[in-house]
Amino acid sequence: MTATEAGTKEIVVGVSGASGAIISARLVHFLLDQGHRVHLVASRTGKLVAHDELSVAEGTRGVFPDMEHENLTEWSERNFFAPFASGTAPIDGMVIAPCSMSTVASLAHGISDNLIKRAGEVMMKERRPLIIVPRESPLDRIHLKNLLTLSESGALIVPPMLTFYQHPGDSVLEQVDFVVSRVLDHLGIENDLFRRWGSER
Ligand SMILES: Cc1cc2nc3c(=O)[nH]c(=O)nc-3n(C[C@H](O)[C@H](O)[C@H](O)COP(=O)(O)O)c2cc1C
Repeated sequence: MTATEAGTKEIVVGVSGASGAIISARLVHFLLDQGHRVHLVASRTGKLVAHDELSVAEGTRGVFPDMEHENLTEWSERNFFAPFASGTAPIDGMVIAPCSMSTVASLAHGISDNLIKRAGEVMMKERRPLIIVPRESPLDRIHLKNLLTLSESGALIVPPMLTFYQHPGDSVLEQVDFVVSRVLDHLGIENDLFRRWGSER
């Protein structure tokens, strides 16, 4: 792994057009809060779905509202000149959350016709951490086969599954934070977003 500065990481976050933009919103917020550098890229549909789900005002330019930060750079999905479109850029990991079945299929077949897919392809070919948070239900055979292909190519599949063993109560955010925490764990980033099994209740 590379490190931009001691202890800080440079992470690419892709937002595709599946449901669940709140997962990447929480993830990006946490990473920035902890001093990490984030490159954010949303697909065209990703931005539309995120704006709808997060009730973002029409005409808002960025994918998430109120998230300007010196360590955050947002890239167009069409901008293949972004540094992380090349394996030579010192990127520590990439997360695609939520990841649509369309982006899963493209990645599984080497089709990199937007910056999210190109960056994902780069992570796999460079053997760097690529974490996919796929969202569809139910999953058909094509989805499952494509996810298996990605897993076999080194990606980590972290589906946003409901969890109950930490007694989440009624909070959707607790469910979201559980998923974000599992993603952060696999990026090697310390977090206490949920009560771990075996710790004090
Ligand atoms: C409101 C909304 C929700 C969607 N949710 C999902 C989803 O959960 N999973 C999925 O695979 N596609 C979902 N889609 C369809 C994708 O947006 C569509 O397949 C799109 O082509 C994905 O392109 P992208 O992967 O480049 O973002 C949704 C579309 C809309 C409009």
